[in-house]
Amino acid sequence: MVDKARLRKETLKRRDALSARERETKSAQIAERFFSLPEYASARTIFVYAAFRSEVQTQSLMVEMLQGGRRLVASRTDPAARRLALFEIDDPLQDLISGYMGIPEPAADASRAIALEALDLVVTPAVGYDPSGNRLGYGGGYYDRLFEQVRADAPRVGFAFEAQIVSSIPTEPHDARIPIIVTEARVIRI
Ligand SMILES: Nc1ncnc2c1ncn2[C@@H]1O[C@H](COP(=O)(O)OP(=O)(O)OP(=O)(O)O)[C@@H](O)[C@H]1O
Ligand SMILES: [Mg+2]
Repeated sequence: MVDKARLRKETLKRRDALSARERETKSAQIAERFFSLPEYASARTIFVYAAFRSEVQTQSLMVEMLQGGRRLVASRTDPAARRLALFEIDDPLQDLISGYMGIPEPAADASRAIALEALDLVVTPAVGYDPSGNRLGYGGGYYDRLFEQVRADAPRVGFAFEAQIVSSIPTEPHDARIPIIVTEARVIRI
């Protein structure tokens, strides 16, 4: 079995190889598919990762969600506690600034803090997925820990380019599975 570290490196290389233009076009296709999901239609409070490096872009999608009346939630990495702290944002262009490791993050404004249990839907980033919904992250376990506290009835959606879908990802018991994966070409439902 291929180990996680090697698979991470190889998959990131393929994701990084997409041009900025390809990333933009494919991200728009992913957003379009996402907006047609019934899970989106019925969710009010939605967590969306703020894209960095070569991840599927989410900024335009965030703007559209706000226009669609959704409550938008973003995360701040707390490396000491090894967790993600959640805050509501109402302007992704203004409210997300370069934070931990250069990740765009909201300010730690206590008046805007959101409890994990309040989330109706979670959109997660990844290095890669396999067709069984196994997820390979960056190796911090931050999203795995987040999902332990997200409501069981809150749908989990993964965004990925087709270049990030691999045949099989080695998993450990703590790894969260993602039952809905949206790519530029399809929606994978597990
Ligand atoms: N629920 C958990 N409770 C305690 N430790 C955890 C949990 N989830 C993950 N970890 C620890 O975090 C480390 C990284 O986990 P893993 O390799 O699965 O990260 P990842 O899924 O790639 O990263 P991420 O979820 O941040 O994108 C591992 O050492 C693992 O033991
Ligand atoms: Mg994991």
